[in-house]
Parts: sequence; C-alpha cells; structure tokens
Amino acid sequence: MKVVISVGGSILVPSDIDTAYIKDFAKLANELSNKHKIAIVTGGGRTARKYISPAREFGASEIFCDMIGISATRLNARLLSAAIGDKANMEPPREFMTAMKAFDFGKLVVMGGTHPGHSTDAVSALLAEYVGADLLINASDVDGIYDKDPGKHKDAKRYERIPIDKLVDMVKSYSAGAGKYELVDILAAKIIQRSKTRTIFVNGRDLKNLKNAIEGKKFTGTVVENGG
Ligand code: UTP
Repeated sequence: MKVVISVGGSILVPSDIDTAYIKDFAKLANELSNKHKIAIVTGGGRTARKYISPAREFGASEIFCDMIGISATRLNARLLSAAIGDKANMEPPREFMTAMKAFDFGKLVVMGGTHPGHSTDAVSALLAEYVGADLLINASDVDGIYDKDPGKHKDAKRYERIPIDKLVDMVKSYSAGAGKYELVDILAAKIIQRSKTRTIFVNGRDLKNLKNAIEGKKFTGTVVENGG
C-alpha cells in the first residue's frame, strides 16, 4: 500500500521535543516501510506557535507568520528524518513532484509544509492525492473526530465514521490564522472530499493503534466516508 501519514506537531513537540516518542514513531515508520510505501508530513507543533505568536505581536502579516510556521514544520521533518535514519530523505521536499520522485525511488519520504495559507493536513491530503495513496492517516493528539471539542466538553462523542460533507461543513467556519488550525483545515477536508482518498483520523500517540489502523485491524478512531 501507499500510505501518507500526517503527524501533528502537537505530538512531536507537545511542550518540548518528545524524543522518546519520535524514536518510537521512527521505529514504526521503518518497520511499516518494509511492507508499504510510506510518506510522512510533520506539523509544526509548539515550535510553530512559539515563533508565530511574537512575530504577530511585532506586526507580521499572516502570510509571514505562515512562512515561520512552515519553517517549524520543516525543522520537525528534519528531526524525524534524523530519527528514521538512512531510509529517509535528509532535505524535506518543498514540492510534491520532488516528494514523488523520492517516494518512487524507495525513500521513506518526510516533509513539512509547502505554501502559506493552509496547514500540513492539507499538504498530506494533496500529497496523498498526488501519489495516489491507498490510505491517508491523520494522526493528532485526539482520538478521532468528535461532535464537539473533547478538550472543552466532557460529553463530546467521537464519530466512528463521518460523512465527508459533514466534516467539510464542520470545519468551514474554523480559523485559518497562522498556527491556529483546529481539527483539520478546510482545504484538507475539500481535498479529501474530491480525491476520495481513504482517510482515517487517529490518536498518533498510541502507536499500536496507529499501526492497527494502517494494517486493517481493529482500531479506535474515525473513518471518513468519502467513497474511498
Ligand atoms: P501545522 O500543520 O502544524 O498547523 O503548521 P496546525 O494544525 O496549526 O498545528 P498542529 O498540527 O496542531 O501542530 C503550522 C503552521 O505553519 C503554517 C500555518 O500557519 C500552520 O498553522 N503552514 C504549515 C503553512 O502556512 N503552510 C503549510 O503548508 C504548512
């Protein structure tokens, strides 16, 4: 299978760099790459917000803040590449064509952001569409997609499955400010809708669960119903 994994910066760098987690994630990525073609898109996490916030205070425009965010995502990509070792590319591809070449060459592709105006969730959805992925995994620090923010509401319920139109509707009013994307950004949702890439949202902190989702075993998360 061709698998694209979007790994949220919030699990790579929750407050500080989670080296133990990155090491374990890298081990799993290496293991999975023996059976599947794997590409990973890393988010910016705390590092992105740490830099975006003062830049915004200094008066930087949102596009400038996005560019700062992209730098953070690439920093995380390099860190993950270092943990993965020889199979990974050293320089995070900035374009899908470069990523595709490395993917076809047999590399375990690790990349961050591409252009301002969206998050790495959109990058992963576009990359999945570009390489014709069989599966897109969105791994964040939440167990899937809930009917309301589970961090704020105790009675929030997780969807086992969610129709893509409902997901698009849910996120259409969400912020598109630099470093402020929630759940998934609207572009990512629209790309998942049009490409029909099979898409699953899971908690990436639970690596066994992540592996189960990829291998078609029982897992906790949310499957997007998009005809894929
Ligand atoms: P993330 O993908 O980490 O955004 O990129 P996020 O969803 O806000 O944060 P996580 O997933 O919880 O870590 C960090 C920021 O970098 C910019 C955006 O401003 C984004 O919020 N970015 C990233 C882009 O502008 N373009 C990209 O392709 C990627």
